[in-house]
Amino acid sequence: MLITIPGVLTAEQVAACTAQLAKADWADGRDSAGYLSQAVKNNAQLADTDPVARRLGDTILQALEQSSSFFGAALPLKVLPPLFNRYAGEQAYGRHIDGAIRPVAGTHHRLRTDLSATLFLSAPESYDGGELVIEDTFGERAVKLASGDLVLYPGTSVHRVAPVTRGVRLAAFFWIQSMVRDVTQRSILYELDAAIQRLAKDVPSHAALVDLAGVYHNLLRAWADS
Ligand code: NI
Repeated sequence: MLITIPGVLTAEQVAACTAQLAKADWADGRDSAGYLSQAVKNNAQLADTDPVARRLGDTILQALEQSSSFFGAALPLKVLPPLFNRYAGEQAYGRHIDGAIRPVAGTHHRLRTDLSATLFLSAPESYDGGELVIEDTFGERAVKLASGDLVLYPGTSVHRVAPVTRGVRLAAFFWIQSMVRDVTQRSILYELDAAIQRLAKDVPSHAALVDLAGVYHNLLRAWADS
């Protein structure tokens, strides 16, 4: 399941982020790649301890806390502090899979990467290429979103970033450990929640809405860790 959430950051927040990233201290992305990924990763990245990354990451985490769409789609238990990357001049990231377990920088904690997230920062018309290409059972999906928009996809997916042939592609990326580990159960909850919300809008007084909300919460109770 691939879910896009528009407008996680406002235009003003995106502008502030890109201005600070323009003068940030970029490092070779290969420094933080695993053994297999090193061979296909070619980008620049901010260190997870970089103060600019931490400050901008906090802005994103605060925005996500306000987003009911993000909560419903990810059912987040833990969110890794966002990281930032930059692609330019034909840089790309070939087919890879994200590691299942990530350390949480500056702590002794770890997080299971149930979902991967990319928050697009550069305006899509300002660069060519740079699509996030995600493989799923239906084939490939190429994702290139407006600045400030987020895509969520299962951590189990093989994916890549297509070469950036013009301009600069800035993005934030991070991982989420969900309260609901299983992707099928998470999809069922997401679809049930969306259907209940549609019904609540069209037939707000229907008594079955309470029962359906009960089914949602009882499934969540059965499946969630908290
Ligand atoms: Ni990846």
